[in-house]
Amino acid sequence: MSSVLNAINLRKYFRITTGLLGGRKYVRAVDGVTLDLLEGEVLALVGESGSGKSTLGRILVGLQRPDEGEVLYRGINIYSSGNSVSKKLRHRIQAVFQNPDSSLNPRMQIYDILKEAVLTRNPSLSDREVIEEIIKLLRSVGLVEDHIFKYPHELSGGEKQRIAIARALAVAPEVLIADEVVSALDISVRAQVMNVLMDVKEKYKLSMVFITHDMGLVWSISDRVAVMYLGKLVELGPTEEIFKEPLHPYTKMLLVSSPAAASATASKDLRFRARGEPPSPINPPKGCKFITRCPIAGSECSITEPELMEISRDRMVSCLKVLKI
Ligand SMILES: Nc1ncnc2c1ncn2[C@@H]1O[C@H](COP(=O)(O)OP(=O)(O)OP(=O)(O)O)[C@@H](O)[C@H]1O
Ligand SMILES: [Mg+2]
Repeated sequence: MSSVLNAINLRKYFRITTGLLGGRKYVRAVDGVTLDLLEGEVLALVGESGSGKSTLGRILVGLQRPDEGEVLYRGINIYSSGNSVSKKLRHRIQAVFQNPDSSLNPRMQIYDILKEAVLTRNPSLSDREVIEEIIKLLRSVGLVEDHIFKYPHELSGGEKQRIAIARALAVAPEVLIADEVVSALDISVRAQVMNVLMDVKEKYKLSMVFITHDMGLVWSISDRVAVMYLGKLVELGPTEEIFKEPLHPYTKMLLVSSPAAASATASKDLRFRARGEPPSPINPPKGCKFITRCPIAGSECSITEPELMEISRDRMVSCLKVLKI
C-alpha cells in the first residue's frame, strides 16, 4: 500500500521559562518522529497525556511548523514555502479537534461556516451550487437542512462535532487528523459521531490519524497503532498484532490498564500495570525514557537509548530487552 503522508524525523521543542531567574528550558514535545500514513488506513496514535500526540497532529496538518524534519504529502514538503501550491496542498490534510466550541466561530451561522470552506475549494461556485454543496455535506454527517441557519450555540455537542467534520470535508481532503474527536461528548452520542466519522472515511476515501486515549476505540476502528511516549514513538504495528502481542513494556502498560481493551488484548501480565507518572519532558531520563516505570529494565537501559527498529514485517519497537541488543 502506498503512503499518502510521510513524517520524517520531526522535532518540536517548546522553549519555556522556569524559575525566578528565568532559566531557559525546552519541552521536547515531539522528539524525532518518523511515521508513514498509508492510503486508506486508520492509524491510531496513543499515549498518555503530554506524550506529544496533539503536537504531532498539529505538525501533520500544517498548523505547527516543526523545528526539524519534514512532512511530505504525496512526496511534497507541506512546509517548503508559503506559496499557493503549498497552501493548496495543505487543504488536502484537514483536522477535527476535541472541542468544536473553540473551532467554530460563535458569530457565524452554519451556512457561513460551511460556505467559507466550500468556496475555499471552489471559489467559482454560484450561490445555488454552494447551498447544494452545503446540504450534501450536512447529509453526509447525518444532519438535515434545518441546521443551515443555526448558530453553533443552538446545536448540541454531537451536532457541533458533526459540523466540524462537515467543514473538514468541504475542502475535499485526503487525510483527516482526528484529535480526540469524541472524548468531550456525552457517552450516548460518542458512538453516533464515531459512526459518522467512519462513514465519511469510506465515502470520501480518507486516510486518517486517530488520536485517542480510548483503547476500545483503537481496537474497533484502527488498522495500525503508533504508541508515543515522551515525544517519541516506542511501538508501531498492525492493531490486531499489537493487541495480541504487545512488545514494548509501555504498550503493555497501556493495554493492561485499559478496561476497554481487556477483552481484545491477550496482554494480562499484571507486572505491567500502570505505575508512576511519566517523567518531565523538560528533563527526561538518560538512556531509555521509560526506564523509571519499566518493570523489566536492566542496567543497559540506563545507558543506551533504544532506537525504533523493525522487528518483523510491519512491526517496529524501541526496547533493548525486546531487541536484545
Ligand atoms: N505551546 C506550547 N508551549 C509549551 N509547551 C507545550 C505547548 N504545547 C504543548 N506543550 C507541551 O508539550 C508536551 C506535549 O503536549 P501535547 O499536547 O502534544 O500532548 P498530548 O499527547 O496531546 O496530551 P493529551 O493527551 O493531554 O492531549 C506537553 O508536555 C505539553 O505541556
Ligand atoms: Mg492532545
